[in-house]
Amino acid sequence: MSTNDLASIAKAMVASGKGILAADESTGTIEKRFRGIGVESTEENRRAYRDMLFSTRGLGEFISGVILYDETLRQKSADGTPFAALLARNGILPGIKVDAGAKDMAFCPGEKITEGLDGLAKRCAEYVKLGAKFAKWRAVITIGGAGVDGARAVPSAACITANAHALARYAAICQAAGLVPIVEPEVLMDGDHSIDRCEELSEWTLRETFAALASQRVVLEHMVLKPSMVISGKDCAKQAGVQEVAVRTLQTLKRTVPAAVPGVAFLSGGQSDELATAHLDAMNKIGGAPWALTFSYGRALQHPALTSWKGSAGNVPAAQRALHHRARMNGLATLGQYRAELEKELGRAA
Ligand code: 13P
Repeated sequence: MSTNDLASIAKAMVASGKGILAADESTGTIEKRFRGIGVESTEENRRAYRDMLFSTRGLGEFISGVILYDETLRQKSADGTPFAALLARNGILPGIKVDAGAKDMAFCPGEKITEGLDGLAKRCAEYVKLGAKFAKWRAVITIGGAGVDGARAVPSAACITANAHALARYAAICQAAGLVPIVEPEVLMDGDHSIDRCEELSEWTLRETFAALASQRVVLEHMVLKPSMVISGKDCAKQAGVQEVAVRTLQTLKRTVPAAVPGVAFLSGGQSDELATAHLDAMNKIGGAPWALTFSYGRALQHPALTSWKGSAGNVPAAQRALHHRARMNGLATLGQYRAELEKELGRAA
């Protein structure tokens, strides 16, 4: 794979009007999602669910790439077409989650370190053969106590630097193997912390991440950043509004993310579907950022489709309509046109 290919794949992933569908839930996570709709997590049910998502007609108009899980990359659509080929046929790039999950970190109670570097080069070579064009690795930063009265602060420097180092080693290995790495340092929204604290810790995390990427010689033009937004903790009594989240997120990214990175594709992290779209829309309305600003949502794209589907073949058309709608709304948000469209639709309905 020539380096030009990696540059054009990264650009295609964040193309105007499009974003990424994260459908790379591990077996444990999809089991949790299925439990919510009363569906057993068998291999066939997981296949049927992903088949429903990926065979949605017109999805490629708003979705540039889909992140798959190892099992899914090896599965096929009902007509026998491998999922990677089905996506490629619809103009969608297949990607693969390559981390082995966030595990408890030694001597850092309440914090996680993402594993999966051992043997990664070999796994990447196989994923390339199976048709993957890009990869994803998620690091998790928890916001806990501020470290007063002798207690240790969470997050710790140990956790942030170790996760940044692992992200950078992963990104270098992917680029050497011919995959565009999605670098995902997620600062969790769980907790009652203020937006100020989220901003401070997001800035620290991103600074460490880009320092590590530089030291591992990662080519910035050949990657996509997948950060969390700067947002109030889920249980914080004072919730920042849409415009404040947009302004603070952009400010934090401008302080830390080099302009050579082609695109920033946010995770939704537990935000409601509509709020995740509204935040992205507001950032693109402000405009002036040196990188494309788009989405790489899991829950915020899949939630309405999952709850319409409920494991029944008869619900597939309704579930696909729900996915197509959210994909279209988020596609509009990448252009800063979501709110205007929403107001038009509400006007029509009134
Ligand atoms: P959410 O949008 O549900 O946070 O998922 C995105 C993702 O890929 C997390 O790693």
